[in-house]
Amino acid sequence: MAKLDPDLLTQRYGTPFPLPVELLERGNTALETILAHRSVRHYVDKPLEPGVLELLVATAESASTSSNLHCYSIIAVQNPERKAALSELCGKQKHIVDAPLFLLFCADLARLKQICEQQSGPSDGLDYAEMFVMAIVDAALAAQNLVTAAESLGLGTCYIGGARNHPKEISAFLDLPAKVFVVFGLTIGYPIRDADEVKPRLPQEHGILHHETYSADFHPALIRYEDAMKDFNSTMPGREGRGWLAQTARRVGTPEALGADRPKIKEFLTEIGMDLL
Ligand SMILES: Cc1cc2nc3c(=O)[nH]c(=O)nc-3n(C[C@H](O)[C@H](O)[C@H](O)COP(=O)(O)O)c2cc1C
Repeated sequence: MAKLDPDLLTQRYGTPFPLPVELLERGNTALETILAHRSVRHYVDKPLEPGVLELLVATAESASTSSNLHCYSIIAVQNPERKAALSELCGKQKHIVDAPLFLLFCADLARLKQICEQQSGPSDGLDYAEMFVMAIVDAALAAQNLVTAAESLGLGTCYIGGARNHPKEISAFLDLPAKVFVVFGLTIGYPIRDADEVKPRLPQEHGILHHETYSADFHPALIRYEDAMKDFNSTMPGREGRGWLAQTARRVGTPEALGADRPKIKEFLTEIGMDLL
């Protein structure tokens, strides 16, 4: 078995991350693929081989799904003009145009509604926030499985939350029925080598990982992460000196900073019958 390269963990946190040697000895390609993740926004002009889309969707469907309800759908867009139009709707993101495949992951309660009708039963449960949460979780789990599988094939991906910029317009563009909501998009294609970097993550201690009970003593982790992100950005032309904290506070500071029509998502959900009781 291959030894896990400790550099993968150092890159992930922007600082050495010691692990017991016995654990490093258990290295494998799944761990390598996951730890080496980076969003890819630069693609070579190369189509995907036949069968790749279908294989990737099989990996998405291999994710767990709440109560086996399959509350999500995936829409594959490969037509260049349609990708260009979607790029406009998603905040003019060029990687949507450049990637050969753009997937839209939808929270989908329409299929369950149809099943209830066919079974001549009520479908009142579908109107509750619980079902909306379930559908979002299902879509996200499926997507992340697909991302890891794509990366294992040498492909790169980038999630596109910009797909929520104009929910009404994107729903019309994709012919979505009521009770179907685009959660995010995902660009997929072969990456231009080394054009995108592995970005460090928040430290576990005082940050992401809590033991037994929650602790809000984040300060030490935030300071360490600010330094890691400043180091990371120092290698990016035009981003020198930038950290994470000020930018993060700005990103969530106002409704406008959420972007485009995103502050109105609640109203849109009501319009499409995804009311949250
Ligand atoms: C749900 C979701 C939506 C995202 N939306 C966008 C987007 O619209 N455009 C983009 O370029 N990156 C987008 N990203 C990528 C994040 O910016 C990226 O994952 C984060 O900065 C960490 O970088 P990394 O993925 O390279 O590790 C999104 C990520 C997620 C999970």
